[in-house]
Amino acid sequence: MCGIIGIVGKDAVAQRLVDGLRRLEYRGYDSAGICTVTNGQFGRRRAEGKLNNLAAKLAAEPLEGIVGIAHTRWATHGAPTEDNAHPHIVGDVTIVHNGIIENFKPLRDELIAQGRTFLSETDTEVVAHLVDREMQTAASPQEAVAAVLPRLHGAFALAIMFREHPDLIIGARLGAPLTVGYGDGENYLGSDALALAPLTQRIAYLEEGDWVVVGRDKVDIYDRTNTPVTRPIVVSGASGALIDKGNHRHFMQKEIYEQPVVVADTLQSYIRPLEMQVAMPQMDFDLSEVERVVIVACGTASYVGMIGKYWIEQMARLPVDVDVASEFRYRDPVLTGKVLGVVVSQSGETADTLAALRHMKANGVTTAGIINVPTSSMAREVDLLLPTHAGPEIGVASTKAFTCQLAVMAALSVNLARAKGKMTAEQEREIVGHLKEAPAAMNAALSHDDEIQKMAHTIAEARDVLYLGRGPDYPMALEGALKLKEISYIHAEGYASGEMKHGPIALIDDKVPLIVLAPAGPLFDKTVSNMQEAMARGAQVVLISDAEGLALAGSDAKATIEMPAVHPLIAPLVYAVPIQLLAYHVACAKGTDVDQPRNLAKSVTVE
Ligand code: F6R
Repeated sequence: MCGIIGIVGKDAVAQRLVDGLRRLEYRGYDSAGICTVTNGQFGRRRAEGKLNNLAAKLAAEPLEGIVGIAHTRWATHGAPTEDNAHPHIVGDVTIVHNGIIENFKPLRDELIAQGRTFLSETDTEVVAHLVDREMQTAASPQEAVAAVLPRLHGAFALAIMFREHPDLIIGARLGAPLTVGYGDGENYLGSDALALAPLTQRIAYLEEGDWVVVGRDKVDIYDRTNTPVTRPIVVSGASGALIDKGNHRHFMQKEIYEQPVVVADTLQSYIRPLEMQVAMPQMDFDLSEVERVVIVACGTASYVGMIGKYWIEQMARLPVDVDVASEFRYRDPVLTGKVLGVVVSQSGETADTLAALRHMKANGVTTAGIINVPTSSMAREVDLLLPTHAGPEIGVASTKAFTCQLAVMAALSVNLARAKGKMTAEQEREIVGHLKEAPAAMNAALSHDDEIQKMAHTIAEARDVLYLGRGPDYPMALEGALKLKEISYIHAEGYASGEMKHGPIALIDDKVPLIVLAPAGPLFDKTVSNMQEAMARGAQVVLISDAEGLALAGSDAKATIEMPAVHPLIAPLVYAVPIQLLAYHVACAKGTDVDQPRNLAKSVTVE
């Protein structure tokens, strides 16, 4: 993971580098550092913990210089200490790195055997040593870097600065994103266009294996064979404004509350309101030919895939496989036939999902991507981009991106059903009518915030929490548990209700809250039976259902949350709200860092 930025500037860079890091904190926030070169000397500041610690250090000990590199870290090799924080300096070379150098151990052994000593536990430091070693004999920094890159295995985006060549930064990428920004008399490197947005909108995306020499007035890009290449300069459109929390205490809270609006925005581009039809962006393949759908994603986005499986199989009668991306390509999945491969991702940069996308493409699969960041690698590589319009999601726990992904998945399911001749125009009209009701129903769900906040205090005392659901509420149970554990650090599990008695029921006692997601409908009675089985063993149940469901079973529960009565298709969008609010308030009650929980990063760019 990690975020990197570099500026070959005409004015002081320290503050601008820190501002850039602020926009990259979603990639990691366990330590940060900056290095500038001025008067033939490197000046470096590094700090453990959040970026504010580095900013405070810089305020106390400012750094001069008009050329510099900076880094915000998510530790892979070595604890998040100051010694392990980037930039790493070896001799006349300093370096920041995003990714993992998989062969760092043999390289390190080789360098140690040559008498070199290491000051950190990182994989990155070997790259600094290798470049420094090459610099002893190479004619130029370019020659040194070109000699080192083929020796590195794994994934990396690098920015390298040289004490004796203070007017250039060399960047390189393989398996991790890196962009070049073109300014006015200065140029930049950054992990993404967002980091560079306040500096420039003119961006070139480096391709796999590219490396680049960034000067003040000149940028030279080379491919992996060291041949000079040009990469198109595009206008990124990324906003340079820093997003704030508005009146909210946390970004997560703000993003939960934004959902009715951003889901409506997203649906607007997938619905033709006059015709009451679902619409897809222009595509140059025929959905009616699809014989099978394969959905790949990670974490919360993978639950959108699981819900998509219920919808697509039910509506379009197409078989659907859902994989977590980290398992997908290593099990060598069968991808024969007319497969539509769908990736789901907020960031569009998740390393495993990106690799799965590339694996599908390499196997001739036509791909679609439900993606929130339009400038991301996945958005640029899918055959059909199905954008979500959630806007920037800053809180590490995905909320509004999730519900927007569900909205697009619903539209895709209807589209496939129509294309496969499994849905009449009348049925489609009816479904579109229900989709249009989703934002208002989500608003109604938000009105239960206060009562959820009250019950959160009891749940905050639990050591374990279980979530139950059936059908599409099963992935919602998984999502509820994931949300709770990642921000409150309480152990939580989601189960398909019917699975309880196959093992997990052994966990039940009167200390384990059981959150049951059960809208009234064909599966309701079955879920309630499973709930009764758990209550008979002392479980403290919170039942989330609609008025009809609560009238039937609410009196047995310890607490209830009433959702509006909605069509099953939009129920996951609506039921997402209480499970997000519950996790949020439990985390607040426990006093955790809601927006930047420990050990996590918003964008997971390593495998
Ligand atoms: C959980 C969460 C993660 C992400 C996952 C995929 O709240 O946010 O589980 O859903 O890391 O990230 P994207 O969607 O960026 O591919």
